[in-house]
Amino acid sequence: MDQIPWWKKTIVYQIYPRSFYDSTGNGIGDLKGIISKLDYIKDLGVETVWFSPFYDSPQKDFGYDIRNYREIALEYGTMEDCERLIMEMHDRGMKIVLDLVLNHTSDQHTWFVQSRSSKDNPKRDWYIWRDGRKPLGKKPPNNWKAIIRGSGWHYDAQTDQWYWTQFLPFQPDLNYRNPEVQTEMLDIVRFWLEKGVDGFRLDIIDALFEDEKFRDNPCSFRLLPSEKSPDYLFQSKKYTQHHPDTLKFLKSLRSVIDEYSPTRFMVGEVTGPMFMLRKYCGDETNDGLNLVFLFKSLGISLNTIKIRRLIQLYESFFSYPHIPTWVFSNHDRMRRISRLGGDIKKAKLNMALQLTVRGVPFIYYGEEIGMENHNLEIETSLDPVAHKFYKVPNFILMAIKKYLGESINRDECRTPMQWNSAQNAGFTKAEIDPWLPITPSYSERNVKIQTENADSLLQCYKRFLKLRNTTPALNSGTIVIINSSELPSNVLSYIRSYSHGSEKQIAVIYLNISDDSLEFKNPHKYANFAESTTVHTRNEKIKNVEIFLFPWEGVVYIA
Ligand code: GLC
Repeated sequence: MDQIPWWKKTIVYQIYPRSFYDSTGNGIGDLKGIISKLDYIKDLGVETVWFSPFYDSPQKDFGYDIRNYREIALEYGTMEDCERLIMEMHDRGMKIVLDLVLNHTSDQHTWFVQSRSSKDNPKRDWYIWRDGRKPLGKKPPNNWKAIIRGSGWHYDAQTDQWYWTQFLPFQPDLNYRNPEVQTEMLDIVRFWLEKGVDGFRLDIIDALFEDEKFRDNPCSFRLLPSEKSPDYLFQSKKYTQHHPDTLKFLKSLRSVIDEYSPTRFMVGEVTGPMFMLRKYCGDETNDGLNLVFLFKSLGISLNTIKIRRLIQLYESFFSYPHIPTWVFSNHDRMRRISRLGGDIKKAKLNMALQLTVRGVPFIYYGEEIGMENHNLEIETSLDPVAHKFYKVPNFILMAIKKYLGESINRDECRTPMQWNSAQNAGFTKAEIDPWLPITPSYSERNVKIQTENADSLLQCYKRFLKLRNTTPALNSGTIVIINSSELPSNVLSYIRSYSHGSEKQIAVIYLNISDDSLEFKNPHKYANFAESTTVHTRNEKIKNVEIFLFPWEGVVYIA
């Protein structure tokens, strides 16, 4: 029997529920809309769907501010719709992953409303409250900064104390040092596991615990954060991130998850250096998170040396029994194709890398049709992070964009899914204003048009997804990068090998990371052509002795 757990072989598709499909005609996506599109996702070749939060929420951070963990936001549907979604997915052999925001709640959650009402309310200690600095107490308790701009402490006049938030002021942090909080949050996890969800994506999970003594964070040399370090504005996160108690709590969480069968899994949003990310997966026994997002791929340029190094880096920290994740876009970051100059050929090559390299691929809705970031004005943004930067002069925002390669306004990557060329891209009724404007290139970049074109990005995704799903070497094999002098320097090549009992398979991948057509001898003549990013490939017809790659073509051979 195959021992590899399903989640190591799966492909995850992320849906931002507000933007997928509006079934009610109010300009906002909803659960019934998603259910009506499940066949599309299944047909694409995706098994697992991760949903950004659809729990009850005032939607100030579009669901990442939860008001009730056991209810569904009215605008998205009801608990019955959610149960139907779970059932419909399972009926199709699909898996469902919910987004859990354990670190903080909405300030409108009844727990917080009670907590802030008085110092002796039983819920007071569910959040992190401190006196301000003496003598007047009108300064925050210490120097801790929030992840997004400015102090993370907020003064509450009613009780003359300050509460702590890792993210935005309306997202108060829960106090995990209170055992009642831990018990309640684990109960919520059980609640959803009982309903049949197959896994969780854990939001800013590296921020659960802070220093018990509330010591000031030390200085850092960094002005802006990077994939390596979240330090910014010259402050380290020593006492506010990666606390050892967070890692301990995650082990308890893992044991709850492991009580359930069939196997469930967790993927965590963690930022920091690779060794730290790896720690979140637990000790030798792998008793922490099953997966962590690796974000270095988000901004990587298509360059043979850089990609080769990245694969090696991921493999050195997440070698078997661990497994890397490959993420190129999500609801917080710039869409990958916009970093590739909107170029479909490059997007195909990027997809071929993502679906053939060792790791769990995460595809962001619309990535399969080349949906681009929509350049939107910060003044009219709905994203609360963008609000924090309203008053920052434009030249500074441009500099941040340039340095970080990111847009401050997350609306730009959250625009509605593009289903067809009709008004509003078929996301909602033509006469309705969608909650965010449709990205202008929707008339060519939509599901309908690309379904009809055999050489479209969408069809290319489908072919590669199918190949990956049916090829053990690709979904479960080891990886070895080929360093051969016979290969042109712009070709990245690796071998995926699978062996289980008498079953053996290898897949050889060649990616032409250049604008040139290339011709070279095939070092693996014994493998047969299986797939290409272009339907015009010459490799299908010519003998395997020679390989001919069009600019940005990626091909797979199998033996
Ligand atoms: C995570 C989410 C982001 C959210 C934030 C606060 O980074 O991905 O969308 O705003 O946490 O919950």
